[in-house]
Amino acid sequence: MHAFYSRSELYSAFFEPSQEIRDSIDRVVRQHLRRMPRRVLDPACGPGLWLSHFLIHESEVAGCDLEERAIALAHERLPKRGARVLVGDMRRPPDELGADFDLVINLDNSIGHLAEAMDVAEHLASIRARMAPKGVYLLGLALREQGDAIDAGVVYERGPVDVPGGGFAALRSETLGLMPRTNCERIRQIAITANVPDMPAVIAEQYDLLTFDFATLRDILALSGGFEVIGCHDATDESLPEKAFRKRAGDVVLVLRPTGAPARRARSATTRKSTRKPMRKSTRRN
Ligand SMILES: C[S@@+](CC[C@H](N)C(=O)[O-])C[C@H]1O[C@@H](n2cnc3c(N)ncnc32)[C@H](O)[C@@H]1O
Repeated sequence: MHAFYSRSELYSAFFEPSQEIRDSIDRVVRQHLRRMPRRVLDPACGPGLWLSHFLIHESEVAGCDLEERAIALAHERLPKRGARVLVGDMRRPPDELGADFDLVINLDNSIGHLAEAMDVAEHLASIRARMAPKGVYLLGLALREQGDAIDAGVVYERGPVDVPGGGFAALRSETLGLMPRTNCERIRQIAITANVPDMPAVIAEQYDLLTFDFATLRDILALSGGFEVIGCHDATDESLPEKAFRKRAGDVVLVLRPTGAPARRARSATTRKSTRKPMRKSTRRN
């Protein structure tokens, strides 16, 4: 269990998407779908912040998350009709969520919480099998090469903010840089709360996020049955400007489209069990 993600009221207080990022996402979606989506999947949906956004556009929405509390809050937030959310793993989202999604959205480097590249390939294969043939997948991730360095320092700082239900809180996340052997980005994070019911006064944790070198990402996209990259945007700027899809692009939102015939079913689960916990927090630089 991830201490911060399991406190979904806190997560929502900090990460409700701004109007600017909503507009930017809508623009990117329209650019590639030429309309707003009919069916949206967020495979690491947390308390459903992005799913709520697409309900405004009258899309049907579905999502899963490992955190029970996040899914409970998503149930409270989303209407029963047109929304389906379940506890589940993004490596293989529950079949009950359905298929034929024309938009899959998975931002803020949530995919970096997976333990290794094969988990990402499994995830992508599973998603590809659920997508409409001309659908798009907006995927936030970090492109870095082995041996790259990033400066240690604060990547997110906000608060105090009011927490729905009472009290207030502040949050600070720092990057400790890329770990030499794994090339994962190490994040250290502290939330401080006051008068928030059933909440500890301090939540402090450290976790690693996967990053992707260009060649490995290409391999993973092919291994998953095939996705082409049809767009790349700078995730550190809420206006989501276009960015070249290349080595060392950093934190980006990729626009993926399935290639070739749609996969009939997701690839089978990898047999190797990861020794790392699958829960990490994104850097949320934007
Ligand atoms: C940065 S949050 C994003 C939440 C949501 N997509 C949003 O934009 O507000 C990352 C989420 O990924 C979830 N998560 C981490 N590993 C997961 C996994 N293997 N399967 C499903 N969800 C996972 C966490 O519980 C957390 O809610």
